[in-house]
Amino acid sequence: MGSASLDSLAPGRVLISEEELATRVRELGASITADYAGRAPLLIGVLKGAFMFMSDLARAVDLPVEFDFMAVSSYGHSTRSSGVVRIAKDLDLDLADRDVILVEDIVDSGLTLNYLRKNLMSRNPASLEVCALLVRDSDDYDKSLLRYVGFRVPDDFLVGYGLDVAERYRNLTEIRVLDQDVQEGSDR
Ligand code: IMP
Ligand code: MG
Repeated sequence: MGSASLDSLAPGRVLISEEELATRVRELGASITADYAGRAPLLIGVLKGAFMFMSDLARAVDLPVEFDFMAVSSYGHSTRSSGVVRIAKDLDLDLADRDVILVEDIVDSGLTLNYLRKNLMSRNPASLEVCALLVRDSDDYDKSLLRYVGFRVPDDFLVGYGLDVAERYRNLTEIRVLDQDVQEGSDR
């Protein structure tokens, strides 16, 4: 472990400020409140990256939401998905006849999302929509699968507000672009 990662909690320039995040999360919460009026949607958070977003999003929804969590991993700690998705923690609740909203931190290649959509649809929910805080500004996958999107982001590696590199920086209150030297220093 290099000392640099302990010395600096702020690893690069701010891409999305705490205020911008708060405003957008409130807007997403208001949209969900309107769209699901009279229903009790089940929010499914994808651990660990979505925990902070989901916590704020849920408090911006004025409905009796319920919560569940899944943990998936692409193998290893590399800064890009390896292409293999594995369920590390499955849901506790039954999805049959539920209005499910899958809450994701960032959709990059779309591989994790595609896998999770198929997996969740096979459990027969009444409906399934996706709410992603961040989405890559690329054409790699079908954007129509994303009902709620916070921000479209460039192809930089991002940290903060739940997003990590090797488990660090999740507690930053804003989204930052990870500097190249920090990224290389933490990859073993
Ligand atoms: P995908 O399967 O390629 O769409 O990757 C999705 C997952 O990769 C996200 O849920 C994150 O855990 C991780 N990921 C992708 N890009 C970033 C990033 O810039 N910072 C931190 N994690 C990322
Ligand atoms: Mg992750």
